[in-house]
Amino acid sequence: MSAVPAWRAFEELPSTNDTARDWLAQGAPHGAVITADRQTAGRGRQGRSWVAPAGALALSMVVRDGLDGLLPLRAGLAVAQVAGSAARVKWPNDVLIDGRKVAGVLVELVDDAGAPAAIVGIGVNVAVDPLDLPPAVAARATTLDLPPAQLRPFAASLSEALLELLTASSDEIVRSLAARDALAGQHVRWAGGEGQASGIDRDGRLMVRGDDGELHQLSGGEVHLL
Ligand code: BTN
Repeated sequence: MSAVPAWRAFEELPSTNDTARDWLAQGAPHGAVITADRQTAGRGRQGRSWVAPAGALALSMVVRDGLDGLLPLRAGLAVAQVAGSAARVKWPNDVLIDGRKVAGVLVELVDDAGAPAAIVGIGVNVAVDPLDLPPAVAARATTLDLPPAQLRPFAASLSEALLELLTASSDEIVRSLAARDALAGQHVRWAGGEGQASGIDRDGRLMVRGDDGELHQLSGGEVHLL
């Protein structure tokens, strides 16, 4: 396992992604990690806010190498590997257990003085009490239900797993995803239609055999299980 080169842990931050972005601008090395016990302005995908109860992990990593279309999926795979054999990656950014979301990934691309970089933000319900989940999300979310003392070890294992996966070849990632693909073979709906999810390609696109018979390669957006 690769060692994380630098780590800053906070009790509270607005968003670990913002602090990681500031650190990146100040020269944080590839693989540097920021964690927070609480976020006051956590961000989710599609402009949504990310509200997490006590016991949730908020972690962001500075990524300078290995930027490709598979980046969010590498992060999802890292979570799934540490979360256990029941965890599945739901394209493009979620990790599910028994069909319920246990983690989300938010990748933000950054131009660092002309060099492409990214902040990979990951929120995981590590030690969340299910009763603390907001009612609106409780039906769709779950928790690893680990003891709070496991938050730091989980964060360390996750960071090491992600650093490792950032150097894995696209083919290796595609193979690992195939074994953990929450959507494979499922009937899904996306903004452009409905069809059967048929795997993830080397560029991180979801392939869907549409009900119209055509093969669609989705490179972003939301997909819903039907
Ligand atoms: C999503 O599912 O919409 C993505 C959620 C990502 C949340 C994480 S928590 C750590 C990092 N900091 C943020 O503000 N967001 C990400």
